[in-house]
Amino acid sequence: MMYLIVFAFLFSGCTANKEADSLIQKACKDASTSPGGDMIPHFEKVCIETLKENSKSQNARTLGDLIIVGANNAISNLTNVKRMVEKIIKEKKYKNSLTKKLLEECLKLYSNSFKLLTSGLNYVKIRNFVKATEVFLDAEDGPAFCGLKFNGDNQQISPVKEENIFLMTMLLIPESFAMEASHDQKLK
Ligand SMILES: *[C@@H]1O[C@H](CO)[C@@H](O)[C@H](O)[C@H]1NC(C)=O
Repeated sequence: MMYLIVFAFLFSGCTANKEADSLIQKACKDASTSPGGDMIPHFEKVCIETLKENSKSQNARTLGDLIIVGANNAISNLTNVKRMVEKIIKEKKYKNSLTKKLLEECLKLYSNSFKLLTSGLNYVKIRNFVKATEVFLDAEDGPAFCGLKFNGDNQQISPVKEENIFLMTMLLIPESFAMEASHDQKLK
């Protein structure tokens, strides 16, 4: 009897994972051909890997569930990059005062993105995918404008250049999923 229960448990766990995995694969494939995703090399692979890394993705049954996982991943990545920048400023690890000023501007942009991501999450929870898409799109401005501050003309190189680029991909994941979900909603 025990054996049967364990077996049933294992089996249901296994099909559940298959369901979540195929949901992740489909969502990431669709997102990789959507505007933005199509411009980022290996977007589909990064999308699948980062979602699977978060164990909560295994409980996802709908695209809405996946948006929540993607948005939480983006929030945690954003928080980490923000902490890195704060540490660089605190420990005066920047090259010159202009770099410091630009990094401080990036911190403001990151804080704004953080607020927008949190608000987007709330819209996803009430299944307002149109509003969620809007705020997730605005959240992408944070790392985008931060990257643009370090342009060729001012000869400044961001100490978090790679992290900031990666962050854009992480923000694009929930945004492209939300856009897909809002299209699905309109078709109903
Ligand atoms: C952002 O997330 C990715 C994937 O999980 C990870 O490899 C990377 O180290 C994270 N970046 C930061 C700054 O935490």
